[in-house]
Order: sequence, then structure tokens, then C-alpha cells
Amino acid sequence: MKKLFFFSSFVWIVATNWAAAQTITSPDSKLSLSFSVKNSEAFYNLKYQNKVVVTDSKLGLRLLNSPDLNKGFSIKDTKTSTFKETWKPVWGEKKEYLNHYNELAITLSQQPENREIVVRFRLFNDGLGFRYEFPQQPTLNYFVIKEEDTEFALSKDLKAWWIAADYDTEEYKYTESKLSQIPELFKGSYDGNASQTIVDNAVQSPLMLKNIEDNLYINVHEAALIGYSAMNLEIDYSNFTLKTHLTPDAQGAKGYIQTPFNTPWRTLVVSPNAEGVLDSKLILNLNEPCKIADTKWIKPTKYMGVWFEMFLPGKSTWSYTDLDNVRLGVTDFKKMKPNGRHGANNANVKKYLDFASKHGFDAILVEGWNEGWEDWFGKSKEEVFDFVTPYPDFDVKMLNEYARQKGMKIIMHHETSGAATNYERRMDDAFAFMHKYGYNAIKSGYVGNIIPRGEHHYSQWMVEHYQRVIEKTAANKIMIDSHESVHLTGLHRTWPNFIAAEAARGTEYETFGGLNPDHTTILPFTRLMGGPMDYTPGVFQTKLNYYDPNVTRQVSTTLAKQLAFYVTMYSPLQMACDLPENYARFMDAFQFIKDVAIDWDDSKILAAEPGDYIHIARKAKGKDEWYVGGITDESKRSYTVDFSFLDKGKTYEATIYEDAKDADYIDNPMAYHIYKQKVTKDSKISIQLARSGGYAISVKPVKIATKK
Ligand code: NOJ
Ligand code: CA
Repeated sequence: MKKLFFFSSFVWIVATNWAAAQTITSPDSKLSLSFSVKNSEAFYNLKYQNKVVVTDSKLGLRLLNSPDLNKGFSIKDTKTSTFKETWKPVWGEKKEYLNHYNELAITLSQQPENREIVVRFRLFNDGLGFRYEFPQQPTLNYFVIKEEDTEFALSKDLKAWWIAADYDTEEYKYTESKLSQIPELFKGSYDGNASQTIVDNAVQSPLMLKNIEDNLYINVHEAALIGYSAMNLEIDYSNFTLKTHLTPDAQGAKGYIQTPFNTPWRTLVVSPNAEGVLDSKLILNLNEPCKIADTKWIKPTKYMGVWFEMFLPGKSTWSYTDLDNVRLGVTDFKKMKPNGRHGANNANVKKYLDFASKHGFDAILVEGWNEGWEDWFGKSKEEVFDFVTPYPDFDVKMLNEYARQKGMKIIMHHETSGAATNYERRMDDAFAFMHKYGYNAIKSGYVGNIIPRGEHHYSQWMVEHYQRVIEKTAANKIMIDSHESVHLTGLHRTWPNFIAAEAARGTEYETFGGLNPDHTTILPFTRLMGGPMDYTPGVFQTKLNYYDPNVTRQVSTTLAKQLAFYVTMYSPLQMACDLPENYARFMDAFQFIKDVAIDWDDSKILAAEPGDYIHIARKAKGKDEWYVGGITDESKRSYTVDFSFLDKGKTYEATIYEDAKDADYIDNPMAYHIYKQKVTKDSKISIQLARSGGYAISVKPVKIATKK
């Protein structure tokens, strides 16, 4: 009796495991993905050359007021296929990208509910993407998500670069630790930030991981976040399983779905080296091809702006008047006195236009140009901004005409104050106003709580709002750079007018003393995995006591490291954030910002390690010019740039901008050294990087003098 029992249970386990396992490999056969149904639940696992990336991890969703979509499954149908194409981005890090994967689409039947869902896996050489697809069917027409059950069972205590999960902001410092250390470090990881809806025991994606034992780098994120709320990752410390934690709406629901519907892709970028992670185009490849027919009006943009001075001690303000007017009960704008420090005034805007046009920039940003900043705290937030009423000292017609004559554009600033519905109501008028005066790009912002319903910045409704703005700006031939919006998920492949976003802690935090030396060695492995960031580099006056001797805060880098960001922080929208007068003091270093390209035919990740250093070489679009940038964290490092990426048989002139010998991000941040040297494919140049230092190199072909 006993014997028989053992025998039959053994057969049962083997049979259920075996019968349902479906496996595909990546085109280079290094990654293998297996899908199985066990005890009517669905699982996947992923291996890299027999090293475990994730062990059996659960799939499915839980629903509100309806049976969950996570059990009762059997495989109804299985389809495998292969796809290979190269495609050209409108702007990008390379001239073309390879999109090559093997696909496994599993149709699951769910009983007794009589429903069907599809789980689609795409396995690339650089990782995995998978999503749920809900075909339209009488038994699954409309449903509300309680939570997504997708797991990433890492099974080991990996090293992680993480920020705390939050429904409203990603503007945190990164922490580098083992997963098991997150609970003890969690509270300290998010000090000093204003808008917090922290999710205990969870982190945000993109999450960067390293399996040191197996030497594998793993990045967990999502692609094509459309019509769905953003993903956070809860951690089960008993087995190091990451569990999806979606952002709820104001009522706690996590998504209202009408079939047919496809979820965003869940992504795992996998590489035996860190360089491979930065080189991955998996997230872009999982997005739809470009949906804008004519893209000629979309232009990578280098800009300056009436912006950084608002963050500098005692400099200028967004508001035309003192905010105190409203607090003191003066609500009639005409009765308010100008405060004398309003940044967006005609003379100042002209000053920026003059300087920026003289030095070859495409545009300037002007913040604080419109009414509303003076009574943000007074009026109902729904009415703060109308996006069409300039302050009296900002002559919109004259300034745009002045810019036009100089071949420059002004970037429109739309701070919504979080009033997203107000913005949607006013977008038509705002865009008509822009067309009238010749604007073709917006920087938008969502500072503060989302009103009127108390939505979260990353919930489904707001994700749909950002999407409506992207599509509506595209229809109006307007480029958009959004701040305080949701993490990027590669949507710029489909909508290249979505030229950049902030959605992370950017340079503004330098003025609040809130950036770490290793921050920019982590961002490319985290936030930038989803798309370009408007990081706004270029601070030359890094010691902020320059403006006010009582200020002890200073920027967390050397000046030379700021130059390197134009190469290491990829974006087709790049700002030179410092004041014209500061650049005028360091014209030789400014030359690099003037020269550096913002669109590329090729990019080579020379060396990288999250949290430590990044070295990248990029080839300018349509030119035989290269730009190299390298940065380090709080440690001094030396690095030898190998120029073997150059064309054979050609001689180039390299201009090297490096930290001076005695440079240091705390004691001597603004000391740099510039020299020129001829280089060929066989050249190597050794560079010393100061603590939180860096270097930048421009490489241009030597012009051969022709004899007359
Ligand atoms: C926060 C943005 O990140 C910053 O760039 C902007 O200046 C302010 N909001 C005001 O809109
Ligand atoms: Ca480090």
C-alpha cells in the first residue's frame, strides 16, 4: 500500500512538470526560457548558459469582484516564431538597431471560468520580455485589477542598485546594497524629499542587479507602459523573489481593463558584463514602430535657459511678485508689486538668446514666463495656470521674433502644478498660443499632488494622461520633455516627439545638496534604461558659495565630470544649465559643450560598472567625429582610452578635457586641464580621474592642407 502510494505520487509530479514545459532559446542560444503549468498555475524560468537568472516564477493577475486570473490554467495552444529586423530610430545612440528574437506565445484556457489569456514571451540575445494579452471574449470583457501576480524569483541574495518604491516620485538617491540589506537601509534611503507615498518593502524599476557569484548583470523593468499603472517590485526576503506591485488609483484599484488589451512587457535584461546592459536595446525593441509619418520636424536639441538661476542662492524667481502677496491677502494680480528678481524678463531672456545663439545652441528654455506662480498657494490649484497669459515683463511676441531672427527657438514651459485635468482642458488653447508665436517644444511639469482626484503620478489614469499629451503634441508637431512624469519604458520608439523626461533626481538637486558622487554612474543602469533623461548637466560654477558666502553646499562633481555627462548621459535633448556669465569665464572648457553632438551614428560602451564608473565613445550623426566621456564615483581612478574604434589609416586630432592633477570634487572641483594630441586607431591615452571626476574628449579628423 505504502509502496504503491509513493510510486503513484512520483509519476504524478513528473507528469505534470514534464507535460506542460515549453522551452525556447535566444537566437545565440545562450538564454533559455521555459514555461510550465503546474497544479493549474503558470510559471516561467530563465537561464543564461545554465546559470539561473530566475527560477520558476509565478504568472497571473488577481481581480476585484471577479475570479482571479492566476489558476485553473491549462495550455490550449502554443506558437513559436522568429523575428529579425533592423530599424532606424528618428534619433538615437546608433544609426540602426537590431531587433532579433524568438517568440513563444502560449494560449492558456482557464476553467471553470471559461476564459482565455495569452502569455507572449520574446527572447532576445540580451534578455527577455513577456506580457499578458487578453483577447475580447464574453467571459472577459471588462475587469478591474487588484494586483498583478508576476514574479521574478531571483532565488539568491543579489547586489542591487535601488530606490524605494513610491507612487509619486523617483527623485531619490540610489542605494547600493545586497537585497537582504534593503529593510535596514530602507528608511534612510528616502530622506529629504517632498512628495512621498512610499511603499514599504518595495523598490522601483528599473532595478539593477548583479549576481556576483555567477557574474551576471540583470535589469528588471517594463516596456511600452500604455493604459496600465506603473510597476514597483515587492521583495520576499525568504527566497529573494520580486513580486509585481502596481500603482493604485485614488480608490486603491490598480487598473480598469476593457478587452482586447495587452499589458506592458515585463523585461529582464541579462548580460555577463555591465557594458552589455548599457548596450541593450531590448526595451525599445519591445515598443511599436514609429507612429508619426512625417518626423522631419523632430530635432535633437541643445539648449540653455532661464532656469538654473532660479535654484541658485538669492538669484531669481519664477514669480513676478513675492509669493507673500497672496499669503497676505492681496489676490488681485494688478495690485501686486514686482519683486525685482523675476527671471523671465525681456532683458534677461534676450541675454540668454544672444549668448546661446552666438555659441551655436538650438533653443533656450524660459521658466516663470506665465501668470500663476505668484498665487500657486492661494487659488484653487485647478485655476493656477492657463498657459496663455505671460507676465507683464515677458513680451512673448517680441521675444519669439527676436529668437527667430537669431535662428533660435524658445522652449515653452508648462508647469501644471499637478492639475492634470486643468491641463487637458486647456491644451488646445495652449497649443494654439504656441503655434501663434512659433514654439515647437514643451517642457512640462507635475509638481505636487495630482488633482482633482488625488491620483498618483504613476497610476493608470496619469499614465493615460501622459500618453494623451504625447499623442496630442505629436498631432500638433510639438516635441515634449516631461518632468515629474512616470518612468520611461521605451515609448520614444513609437512617439519620437517624446524627446526626453526627467523622472529621476536631476541636476537641480545639486543646489539642495542632494546628489551623490556615484549617482550618475547608476542612472544609466536604472532610469535611463527606459529612455533619455533631461538631466540638465553643465554646471561650471560648482562651488555655490560663489553666490552667497554663507552657502556651504556645492555640486557633487568636478567641472570636467560635468562635461563627460554629455556623452555618458544619453539624451537627444541636452541642456547647458549654467549661467552665460559662468560659461564666459571658462570658454576653453565650454568649447566641448559647443562641439559635442546630440545625435549619434554609433555608440561604444568602453567600460562600465554600476556605482563605480562609465566610459563611452560615440560617433556623431553623419560626421567622422567621435566624443568620449568617462566618469567615476567618489574614488579616484585611472583609465586608458583605447582609440581602436577609429577608422583605419586616418589621423584625428583629439582635444582632451580632464581633471587637473590636484582636482577634487570637494576641495578643488573647478580645476581642469585641456590639451590636444593627434590620435589614430592605434592610440591609447591614459587619464587620471579625480574623486567624483571625469573627462571628455572630442576627436575630429585632421584636415589635410591641399597644395595650391
Ligand atoms: C521641477 C522641475 O524638475 C524643474 O526643472 C522645474 O524648474 C520646476 N519643477 C518648476 O516647474
Ligand atoms: Ca562605488
